[in-house]
Amino acid sequence: MGTILKKELVLKNGRKGILRTATVKDAPQIVKLMKGIIKEGPYTLAEPDEYRSTIKTESAKIRRFKNAIGKIYLVFTVGNEVTGFISFDNWDTRRTAHTGLFSVFIKKKWRGMGVGRILVTGMLDWAKTNPLNRKISLFVFSTNKNAIALYRKLGFRQEGRCPKDMIIDGKYVDSVMMYKFTK
Ligand SMILES: CC(C)(COP(=O)(O)OP(=O)(O)OC[C@H]1O[C@@H](n2cnc3c(N)ncnc32)[C@H](O)[C@@H]1OP(=O)(O)O)[C@@H](O)C(=O)NCCC(=O)NCCS
Repeated sequence: MGTILKKELVLKNGRKGILRTATVKDAPQIVKLMKGIIKEGPYTLAEPDEYRSTIKTESAKIRRFKNAIGKIYLVFTVGNEVTGFISFDNWDTRRTAHTGLFSVFIKKKWRGMGVGRILVTGMLDWAKTNPLNRKISLFVFSTNKNAIALYRKLGFRQEGRCPKDMIIDGKYVDSVMMYKFTK
């Protein structure tokens, strides 16, 4: 099952929060958080008018991930606020179910305080004891230096680079694929 035991952790600013499995009650905050990040511009494939998730579809995703062996969806909350989330989605076939892709997003005002490290580490800890998982991968824009720095610090290495993978504000941007073996 895609669940973890909840854990209290302290951020760099001294605030305490909880790392836990996402529940459907988090869906409204997650959708709002994601809309805010998409509006910022440089981090997402979708532009604001292309974002299709709703509270209903996000709730369905949260339920699906909780009931799947090889998937995990985590949030880090401070009080009642969802500060960020991570979702890891493994592939569907038996030959590829040991691996998959994750994405992680932190609310702007909570960045640089350790939430990203907590969420990625939480996913990796889950993966180490998960019966299916052997490898975790991700795609990141080559321009996203902060995210690449975090992933490198946590042991991810470059798997490949896809040249001219996106056109952002009329300019080509490469995407970088990174991976880490979990066993
Ligand atoms: C990228 C992101 C997930 C990182 O999360 P965060 O909570 O801001 O990061 P943290 O506070 O946990 O810090 C991450 C670590 O990387 C380091 N780091 C960050 N930017 C760095 C840089 N440019 N160079 C070197 N190190 C850097 C930090 O010093 C920190 O190291 P430490 O844990 O050893 O102290 C977050 O900023 C975010 O959501 N950004 C917008 C959306 C996004 O880019 N998502 C990823 C898409 S692939």
